[in-house]
Amino acid sequence: MLYAPKAFHGLTSGAVSLNGCQSFRQGFAPYVPDCRLIAFNDLSALESALAARDVAAFVIEPIQGKGVNIHSPGYLQAAAQMCHKYGALFIADEVQTGIGRTGSFLAIDQEGDVEPDMVVLSKALSGGYVPVGAVLVRGAVWEKVYSSLDRAVVHSNTFGQGAMAMAAGLASLAAYDETNAAQNARDMGALLKNGLEALKPRFEMLKDIRQRGLMIGIEFGAPKSLLLKGAWSALHAMDENLFAQAVVIPLMEDHRIICQVAGHNQDVVKLIPPLVINQDDVRWFLSAFEDVMIKLHRVTVPLNLLARLGRNAIFG
Ligand SMILES: Cc1ncc(COP(=O)(O)O)c(C=O)c1O
Repeated sequence: MLYAPKAFHGLTSGAVSLNGCQSFRQGFAPYVPDCRLIAFNDLSALESALAARDVAAFVIEPIQGKGVNIHSPGYLQAAAQMCHKYGALFIADEVQTGIGRTGSFLAIDQEGDVEPDMVVLSKALSGGYVPVGAVLVRGAVWEKVYSSLDRAVVHSNTFGQGAMAMAAGLASLAAYDETNAAQNARDMGALLKNGLEALKPRFEMLKDIRQRGLMIGIEFGAPKSLLLKGAWSALHAMDENLFAQAVVIPLMEDHRIICQVAGHNQDVVKLIPPLVINQDDVRWFLSAFEDVMIKLHRVTVPLNLLARLGRNAIFG
């Protein structure tokens, strides 16, 4: 099996074997054997890995949740074709990106002619309220797994097809259509992106905005001015995880907005708001974010917050 650096497919023992982040893996060996890392967004690395024809599958998030890392245009389509050329399955983990999050039902729908062999869905499949997940597979994969009557239960679990989960899933799919969720994700995502881009020239630590629909990564970077540079270095020397927390905590405490750091050891905050947000919500977020940026760029003001962070070191 192939997986990418920073990949996140879950933390159960099979999935953690495909986790591209050391801090999640540590302490959980042994892993599923023969799982191999391949470079992110690199078709020639993928081809070299596939060429031996011993790869069962390439498991990939169309947009990585840890960092909101977006592949170059054409990568996913070419990667899927390459997998098929060498007899490997292309598995799209759309647990986070699926059901409208990126502005289309699946994120791969925006990637040209990508033909996955399996698609994994969850999270928004119940609007986040009821545990439900789904694995969509091609007929050929289905036939291989459930190839005869005595193999009909070869892969199952107690709550698979649980009635409440199925009802919640169907209700969410109906709501997805009724609320035009994908269109709203495109519209509100564009508003957020434009608003954040407009703030960029004013705040030197605001480095990059990566956005597809309502999946948004805000990356911060080292400032140029001397005073801020000192504060940035001191904070990173204390702990590589802290800066993003200095954004997330005041957003919650001062503005009642919950968002997340986008992963370990990175200066990225991730926004994955409900797909039903409206223009007022976008305005609320942008003014809250502006307020947090103003305070963070003042150096002296957030020192008490930074000291608190140093003491508490909270990780998301
Ligand atoms: C892309 C992706 N795949 C898989 C998972 C794991 O799902 P679960 O926590 O239900 O095992 C997550 C959870 O965050 C995810 O973001």
